[in-house]
Amino acid sequence: MDRAVLDAPSFRAAAKLACVILRKELSHYTWAGVYMLYGQELVLEEWDGEHATQHTKIRVGRGLCGLAAVENRAVVVKDVREEPRYVACFQSTRSEIVVPVRNVQGKFIGEIDCDSDEIGAFHATDLAFLEWLADRLSQRWRRELEAFAPAFS
Ligand code: SME
Repeated sequence: MDRAVLDAPSFRAAAKLACVILRKELSHYTWAGVYMLYGQELVLEEWDGEHATQHTKIRVGRGLCGLAAVENRAVVVKDVREEPRYVACFQSTRSEIVVPVRNVQGKFIGEIDCDSDEIGAFHATDLAFLEWLADRLSQRWRRELEAFAPAFS
């Protein structure tokens, strides 16, 4: 990931840049977004992709995004058409990965969510990379992110 992400002036600026770079450098990333937790709701802060999603607010527990929040874990789905908990944003999406952003105490405070038009696009390398990225963002903007106090977990 570009050094520019960690040199960005704020968490939001870094999140936006990360989404843009993910899409630009990794062709299987069709859409990338960062949701943050406000109480019981995930709110889309920044994203990059050809289309905007209607799901800019997602209740904790709903969809793959909400599942990652409740269980404070990454969620990887090879084929969203076979996953009943999936909430559709784009007709063309086939696979999805959601990786938690955690605070210093390890609590869930947000997530990186990526969609692909390819079936089974996300592998262990994507998971490891996005977990590393989430960790770096969280450490770099530790103070700014203290505002996101998890209401659960
Ligand atoms: N598919 C997600 C909703 C967010 S969009 O992919 C941008 C879900 O199931 O939670």
